[in-house]
Amino acid sequence: MCLAVISSPMMDREHKATKKRSRKTQISPLKPPVSKLRFEAVTLCVCVLLLTSLASPAQSDIEGRINALLGRMTLEEKLGQLQQLDGEANGNYRPEHIDLIRKGLLGSTLNVRGAKRTNELQRIAMEQSRLKIPLLFAFDVIHGYRTIFPVPLAQAATWDPATAERAASVAASEARAVGLRWTFAPMVDIARDPRWGRIVEGAGEDPHLGSVMARAQVRGFQGRDYSLPDRVMACAKHFVAYGAAEAGRDYNSTDMSERTLREVYLPPFRAAIDAGAGSVMSAFNDLNGVPASANPFTLTRVLREEWKFDGVVVSDYESVRELINHGFAAGEAEAACAALSAGVDMEMVSRLYGKYAAQLIREGKLLPATVDEAVRRILRIKFRLGLFDKPYTDEGREQAAIFSRTNVEAAREVAARSVVLLKNEREVLPLSKQVRRLALIGPLADDQQNMLGSWSGDGRKEDVVSLLAGIKAKVSGSTQLTYSKGCDIEGDSTQGIEEALRVAREADAVVVVVGESADMSGEAASRTSLDLPGRQLELVRAVIGAGKPTIVVLMNGRPLTINWIAQNAPAILEAWFPGVQAGNAIADVLFGDVNPGGKLPVTFPRTVGQVPLYYNHKNTGRPPDPNNKYTSKYLDSLVTPLYPFGFGLSYTRFRITDLRLSAQRIRANGSLSVSVEVENIGSRTGDEVVQVYVKDVAASITRPVKELKAFQRIMLRPAEKRRVEFTLAAEHLGFYNRDMRFVVEPGEFKVFVGPNSAEGLEARFQVVEE
Ligand code: BGC
Repeated sequence: MCLAVISSPMMDREHKATKKRSRKTQISPLKPPVSKLRFEAVTLCVCVLLLTSLASPAQSDIEGRINALLGRMTLEEKLGQLQQLDGEANGNYRPEHIDLIRKGLLGSTLNVRGAKRTNELQRIAMEQSRLKIPLLFAFDVIHGYRTIFPVPLAQAATWDPATAERAASVAASEARAVGLRWTFAPMVDIARDPRWGRIVEGAGEDPHLGSVMARAQVRGFQGRDYSLPDRVMACAKHFVAYGAAEAGRDYNSTDMSERTLREVYLPPFRAAIDAGAGSVMSAFNDLNGVPASANPFTLTRVLREEWKFDGVVVSDYESVRELINHGFAAGEAEAACAALSAGVDMEMVSRLYGKYAAQLIREGKLLPATVDEAVRRILRIKFRLGLFDKPYTDEGREQAAIFSRTNVEAAREVAARSVVLLKNEREVLPLSKQVRRLALIGPLADDQQNMLGSWSGDGRKEDVVSLLAGIKAKVSGSTQLTYSKGCDIEGDSTQGIEEALRVAREADAVVVVVGESADMSGEAASRTSLDLPGRQLELVRAVIGAGKPTIVVLMNGRPLTINWIAQNAPAILEAWFPGVQAGNAIADVLFGDVNPGGKLPVTFPRTVGQVPLYYNHKNTGRPPDPNNKYTSKYLDSLVTPLYPFGFGLSYTRFRITDLRLSAQRIRANGSLSVSVEVENIGSRTGDEVVQVYVKDVAASITRPVKELKAFQRIMLRPAEKRRVEFTLAAEHLGFYNRDMRFVVEPGEFKVFVGPNSAEGLEARFQVVEE
């Protein structure tokens, strides 16, 4: 029988060996301390009341309607609800969909879009199928639908949840206008390995930043209720540990302790679900020997039982059928049985549920109740989306709603906020708009296509403002702007470099724009080298050799190893893939209309050999010591990163001083406030991201050298000073002990507050027995 047995190798834990230290306070992770509970309980009641009164229709009513409908459905119709099929790449549906919908054999599509097309299909479901169950239209609206925003990694570099929320809400409103009700976003996979191309789709390496961004994006897509006009249902993906792909090779296996899973990879999912995400996507990878798309431990124990998630789990693209390739299922029927029993409700693209579930039930391998539960979850979200009552999209709104002026303006602002200034020697930046002769060089300098990034929705190349166009619009009429491509992104030709050098020599300042093409990151785009591809480094070397004030603008979907540039370029701007307003936004930053305030959401290594390199690593018994060979380091590289997590400069300077703690000792379920004074000591208004890290000095499980627990991006005018305050509570101090219980152990803690993960002030406090 393929009934899910909830156990996993990582659950067979060694309990006995636990050396009992002092009494531990067991606390549910991500839960506030008792002192905060009363206030939050009141807030929660108000929210629940609000939600139940605003959501249409009310929850109890929904369950009644689901039951009534389920009672009338044949097994085939039930299995039809579990099926999601792909449309054409251009957004059209496929001819076969029509007949399947008529017969009640299709519950959802992906990639079918456009108000008219979705209405056409919906009309068949609502008028010609026996039970008139509406279809659910899904699409990957990841960083914009038509108005393309910066890639998610860039949005994470804003360290500003309000900005990410804004981008998602614009994306949602455009998606909704074209008939979509469900986006496969946010991707909340933690990625510690920049070889993995999908690092571009997430918020980087840190569980706290990842959780903050996950919540923000869910709020942006769904608003307070995903049935509201202009909203779509979110999908937290890929559940789970997909980002830990071995060797950074996409789709590869992952193997990790349950503790690492719970402390690093699960938190952003939990955050997305706590923010109300209506759906979750099961991942392609196997995790500790059990594929994520048939893993009862993650899909049922964690997601349903611990987290009480009552939304839908959709498989990834054919990940049900791929259980056979994993060697986890002997054939198609077994694959269907394993996925459905483990808790994957909807099957994307492969068609095994529909083909085998009846037979599996007859053979007693699959419980009819398992099918009913999956159908129930799908119907529940269709009701919550209001689809039964309002199945159609207003075709008249589509044109005005997408790529509107306000949406485009938002894309420009978000892109400018996501830029990270990595270097600015002798204040080469910002450039003067009056610069006499400006050279713009590089394969990405006059590019439109690549600016759209990895998931470009229905974004169009012709919508994109290239950097050349952006700079032209920015500089004074008397500025002489010359452009030279220099070389391609990839390939061996160096033919254009000489011409680029000539252009550079004749200029007063040079901007050289290099990086990756958009398709070098994203899905199935892993790299073994993090170097600039092709001959671009040669181009940069030649141009810098001209001796002019030179700014390197990087456009890429992952950290790159740019040691030579870091050492030799006077100024470096990390611009990622900025979206449709690329040129305007980067020009805003280059010429000082926007002061860059982004910070790296991911560590930049010196060499690919250091990977995985992340700031929240363990200390080891032999932490690196340059004077001692027998310590943890490399013979041929420093152990430190080129740029640490959280790093980013500004055109102004900040001073962070006077770290104060509200208490020296707190109880394990208590909290304390941490504050610093931040002062703008430069001459321009600018943003600083104040970051708070914590370390448990000695614990029953070795702890990371530091962990980000709070941050705030603030804006200060010149000479302005502000005290910034944070609260640290149990949820920030605890970890999973040997019994896999979330505890706060008494003892000493360090707190670091600074402008990045490598610098800052330090203080200590004690957690004491109650
Ligand atoms: C990707 C998902 C995506 C899905 C549907 C898959 O290949 O892994 O992230 O949502 O396709 O397009």
